Amino acid sequence: MALTQELEGALNAQVTLELESAHQYLALSAWLECEGLPGMAHWMRMQSGEENEHAMKFFEFLVDRNATVKLGPLPQPVLEFNSVIDVFRASLAAEQRVTEAINTIYAIATDARDFASYPLLDWFVNEQVEEEATVQQIIDDLERIEGNGYALLMLDRELGARQEGAE
Ligand code: FEO
Repeated sequence: MALTQELEGALNAQVTLELESAHQYLALSAWLECEGLPGMAHWMRMQSGEENEHAMKFFEFLVDRNATVKLGPLPQPVLEFNSVIDVFRASLAAEQRVTEAINTIYAIATDARDFASYPLLDWFVNEQVEEEATVQQIIDDLERIEGNGYALLMLDRELGARQEGAE
């Protein structure tokens, strides 16, 4: 069954949104490197890599469904932040935007009775719950240790230990 035009458009927009997310995470990583927090910068770089993988999941799904992949332009990422916690808040806001977009695609797929897209979309629904929870936990930790340089260093070390496929 061919994708409806609306669903094809929404899936294409999601490829670009995931790439935009990867681009923004790279900018967050660069800012953290400048702040002397290599562990957090590493965590953001890993996150950027995951977003690229997310983009490719949608890309491959479009190809498998015999649809045309149309990449859109990427906006300039935000480069300046006032604090470390603001960086993670920017991350949470980006994740919430992605969640909203996935939910919208789900609604479009449901209206189109495009059941073949459900497994992919279900994977993303679960992924977004995890991603938001992970970033929220880091924000909670940063709020708790506010002003404590040693605790910040420990958190930087902890996030620096993130491995491929783990959060
Ligand atoms: Fe691909 Fe973090 O959403």
